[in-house]
Amino acid sequence: MCGIFAYTGNKGKDAGGILLDGLLSLEYRGYDSAGIFTPESGSIKTPGAVAELRKKVPKEFAGKSGIAHLRWATHGEPTEKNAHPHSSGDGEIWVVHNGIIENFKELKHGLEKKGHVFLSDSDTEILPHLVEEHLKHTKDFEKAALAALNELRGTYGIAMQYKGEPDKLIAARMGSPIVLGLGNGEHFIASDPSPILPHTKQVVFLEDGDVAVITPEGHGIKKLDSSNVSRATTEIDWNAEEAQKGGHEHFMLKEMMEMPEVVENTLRGRLIADKGLAKLGGLEEVAKQLEGIERIIIVACGTAYYAGLVGEYMLEEHAGIPVEVELGSEFRYRSPVLNQRTAVLAISQSGETIDTLEAVREGKRKGALTLGIVNTVGSTIARETDAGVYNHAGPEIGVASTKAFVSQLVVLALLAIFLGRQRGMSEKQGKEIAKELKALPKKIQSILDKHTSVEALAKKYVGSRDFLFIGRKYNMPIAYEGALKLKELSYIHAEGCGAGEMKHGPIAMIDEVFPTFAIASADAVYEKMLSNIHEIRARKGPVVALATEGADTRVEELVQDVIYVPKTIEMLAPILNAVPLHLFAYYFSREKGYNPDRPRNLAKSVTVE
Ligand code: F6R
Repeated sequence: MCGIFAYTGNKGKDAGGILLDGLLSLEYRGYDSAGIFTPESGSIKTPGAVAELRKKVPKEFAGKSGIAHLRWATHGEPTEKNAHPHSSGDGEIWVVHNGIIENFKELKHGLEKKGHVFLSDSDTEILPHLVEEHLKHTKDFEKAALAALNELRGTYGIAMQYKGEPDKLIAARMGSPIVLGLGNGEHFIASDPSPILPHTKQVVFLEDGDVAVITPEGHGIKKLDSSNVSRATTEIDWNAEEAQKGGHEHFMLKEMMEMPEVVENTLRGRLIADKGLAKLGGLEEVAKQLEGIERIIIVACGTAYYAGLVGEYMLEEHAGIPVEVELGSEFRYRSPVLNQRTAVLAISQSGETIDTLEAVREGKRKGALTLGIVNTVGSTIARETDAGVYNHAGPEIGVASTKAFVSQLVVLALLAIFLGRQRGMSEKQGKEIAKELKALPKKIQSILDKHTSVEALAKKYVGSRDFLFIGRKYNMPIAYEGALKLKELSYIHAEGCGAGEMKHGPIAMIDEVFPTFAIASADAVYEKMLSNIHEIRARKGPVVALATEGADTRVEELVQDVIYVPKTIEMLAPILNAVPLHLFAYYFSREKGYNPDRPRNLAKSVTVE
């Protein structure tokens, strides 16, 4: 996700102090490395967050303008050399960037041929070099920046500066948010309004394809084709904390609202849709070894464990590999039988969960190939596994994992294509899954757009002391996930259960005040789910159903309430079904007066056993 902040003003010489204070309010966007540049004082970069940067920046870090960055790594480890700002070879152009430049390898190759030397592994570094190259010909910073931006493919939010015109900063947006702050004799660029608000409430939100120039006196905006465009000025009345949450009441809600973008980021550059293939760069090195793998053991905790359970269905059905899913906390206390033909696949948002990490270490000790699906680049699990796939979901602040869970399921689907195509999955099938994956962001958005109806449902049921969640096949783990989210955020009894297991115990709990959430997607087990719902209704239990839009309506006649989600293929339905369940748990908790971002007794990263 990364945080960008840039300043130009004619008020004094403390750009350094202004930039450091601004970065602090962006820390929720990324914190694995940080950096700052002013033309007068040069650049300072460090692994770690703003506190680390502050220690390194001298008191007298003068400047009337400058750019700064907090990184959430995507390309390259979170080291000093990969931290932003990045500069051109001649040290004249400096850039901070949020996003992913997809064609950076081609561009880098072309620049290397022209003699450019790169110091980092970051995709961003190619941009100042490209501008430098264009500046040789155009002799005009704005024209050179525009020409360079026109060569990029991918997503970016950018701020850049040229030592030759230190007052002038250029910002650009394609997919990653950029906002300008319009002050009196000073102007700002940032990833969101939070660092701008202490200085001015007047902001301009750039749109995709916009390139803006700011100076202390004013701003101008062009499109990538150089045509002028004007964007409305907005007066922001959020406080800094509201700004960090993008105007949402809680990080959890903001993170759920980011899900469509997160799925796009997770998929970006990884689907070769017309060939029905998945390209997972992090697995390239072990691709040959993976062909010989006979068994996968997924290790994870909590919500990530439930993602693993969905992954088990996906990988067994579509890649034909035997999969077992183990709780990280149990794995090493058994005597797991592993060998070189076993892959131990850890799933972890933080990459620091100790039980998952110890399971990876146990796998290593016993000679297994270790893999990770991890969100936090450079985290311990990411470092200690032999290979892996990053989620690119951005930092998750809400303690309950939401957008990272959805992203984990998307990576597992990509892995099913990747391994499936190694083992006989047809091109046709690969193409079908790829097509459905690409359609997910819009479908998730359509569910999020109906969030007020889920809120109304949470209000209706908020008096309930218990909740049962049932599902079958791919959706059984989603029933577990729905129950976990509700209990951890609202402190009521909630239980997830395979619908077929109900008759072996849980149905005894059902009466007229014990509601059930039934996941009744139109899939291979739909008829069986209808029977289970009948059994609950026969005992007067109220039922809320999650059903498929445009499919059978029998479920509607059976239950008290229905939430419809768009149709997709069976293996991807859990991704869509998780969204209303997360929303429900969020609104239920809020309705009870709790803070869904900080459930009691829980921590975001569980680093003790
Ligand atoms: C529940 C939740 C947790 C985490 C679990 C693993 O909403 O978020 O159950 O999923 O603590 O954390 P990571 O994924 O960081 O290993």
